[in-house]
Amino acid sequence: MKIIAVNDYEELSKVASKIIIEKVKNQPDCVLGLATGGTPEKTYQLLIEDFKRNATTYQNVNTVNLDEYVGLPNNHPQSYHSYMFHKLFKLLDLKSENIHMPDGMVSDLQEECKRYDMILDHLNYPDLQLLGIGSNGHIGFNEPGSPFSQKTYVTTLSESTRLANARFFNHLDEVPSHAITMGISGILKSKEILLLASGESKAKAVKELLVGELDMNFPASALKSHKHVTIIVDSLALKEVRKIKDIELSEATCGGHEI
Ligand code: GLP
Repeated sequence: MKIIAVNDYEELSKVASKIIIEKVKNQPDCVLGLATGGTPEKTYQLLIEDFKRNATTYQNVNTVNLDEYVGLPNNHPQSYHSYMFHKLFKLLDLKSENIHMPDGMVSDLQEECKRYDMILDHLNYPDLQLLGIGSNGHIGFNEPGSPFSQKTYVTTLSESTRLANARFFNHLDEVPSHAITMGISGILKSKEILLLASGESKAKAVKELLVGELDMNFPASALKSHKHVTIIVDSLALKEVRKIKDIELSEATCGGHEI
């Protein structure tokens, strides 16, 4: 795992957007795996700024999203369809037929999981998969205990995840209890993975990711078995690691410092 230590959220977003833009320029027909949550928001803003300023085109890019809540209509303000549409898709020149997300509103969710896996198979999985991390180590909506062999499936959200995401809803009761998520095996089929971690609430998870063992109860640890993972982490999220002797961190420099 390559670790890029940056000072703060701003810098993390700059470095992440630079990596994604480079990917799109070098491989204009790439498949981008996209994430939701608070962490990638600024990265997406920077992609949009670059699109406006430098006309980087996404016309031949396909996107696949990690997950979607079950039971939220696509136009619900907190659905991931809504998030992606308003924060990214409508502001780039992506073709609508190249945008792929699981649908949490269909009556047959098992069929939907199969449909999504067929799309992933057809596209041959992301060339670059963007990930955040939950404070309990979840990636996508793969909660602790999810087998690493899992394909796309319907997952039950843990209480800690529902609580963490309640900040986007009016009330905890409104946070769905289930979601469709790409499984860990699908995520690991990505050619390259870029995980972003920002802020103190991620410090324990980052420490576990960097120094822990492969462990089903810490889903992000599955990334240890992947050959091409980059983690961009800011100083608050690295707080716990700085206390560990055997990982020496040098001063972060502008644009990130590789450890
Ligand atoms: C959410 C998403 C994940 C995201 C994570 C962290 O529940 N399903 O894809 O990475 O939780 O979110 P945030 O970036 O808001 O901390």
